[in-house]
Amino acid sequence: MTALHPDCTIEQNWESYSEEAHATWRLLFDRQQRLLEGRACREYLDGLGRLGVEAGGIPDFRRLGDILERATGWRIVAVPGLVPDGVFFAHLAGRRFPSTCFIRRRDQLDYLQEPDVFHDICGHVPLLMNPVFADYMQAYGEGGLKALGLGHLPRLARLYWYTVEFGLISTEEGLRIYGSGILSSAGESVYCLDDPRPRRLRFDLRRIMRTRYRIDDFQELYFVIDDFQELFDATRPDFAPIYREVAALSDLEPSQRVAQDNDFSPVPRIGREKNGPLVKRGPSLGRKRLEDVRQDHNR
Ligand code: PHE
Ligand code: FE
Repeated sequence: MTALHPDCTIEQNWESYSEEAHATWRLLFDRQQRLLEGRACREYLDGLGRLGVEAGGIPDFRRLGDILERATGWRIVAVPGLVPDGVFFAHLAGRRFPSTCFIRRRDQLDYLQEPDVFHDICGHVPLLMNPVFADYMQAYGEGGLKALGLGHLPRLARLYWYTVEFGLISTEEGLRIYGSGILSSAGESVYCLDDPRPRRLRFDLRRIMRTRYRIDDFQELYFVIDDFQELFDATRPDFAPIYREVAALSDLEPSQRVAQDNDFSPVPRIGREKNGPLVKRGPSLGRKRLEDVRQDHNR
């Protein structure tokens, strides 16, 4: 293990990955490649292609970081795992994406409770190539530092969860995925679009801030945006009064309905099974962020 710097970063030590580690990456990457065509949003697939993230093995962060920096000014920093909230937000606010370096074991291909390098790099980094999403993530980091000071982190964490990790986006070709927690999960990539059980609501900032989420199974609820500009614009206002407003209302369970709910599409698409994989039902991959661990511990 290399030295931990004060900002919680380490060296990726790309040269030290075993052949076994690269082989695990290849398995995960191949499987998602087949699934995500026609399911992931265009911006994601475009970013993945431009970064040159490949099936071959775990990428060298220096190489990806150079391409990313030229595109949107973001860098990738290596971290050993979950880092304290304030450190995480400060990295985002400085346009540095903290990525874990380790890769899951073979018996964890379908589910891992903490982020690993596949989730972080394959799930999160491609969208940072998109200028609007890149700005949203930086604004989120600044908002995180502010929410921390105001004592409203759980409400802001829900926004991260229902957008960055589990967001869906409406396109002319149909519903697509942009949330990294879904993009790095074979099972949920199919389930979130094709399964009639989960509810899909139009993006609504206050509704999201009120809604708890589960980290141990597929989501029962997704929020749909029209484009990243909508997300950026809707989150631009000062959250301080919004936090207070939302704090006065009761929290909602993901399965709970409220009268004002704006359902996105009650009719799920059909006919996907043909090119879908055989995936067993179970929770998705690498979805646990520090906020969640914290919340669990503080409960
Ligand atoms: N506008 C938010 C605030 O004042 C900051 C923020 C931006 C939070 C984007 C999340 C996403 O706190
Ligand atoms: Fe994540």
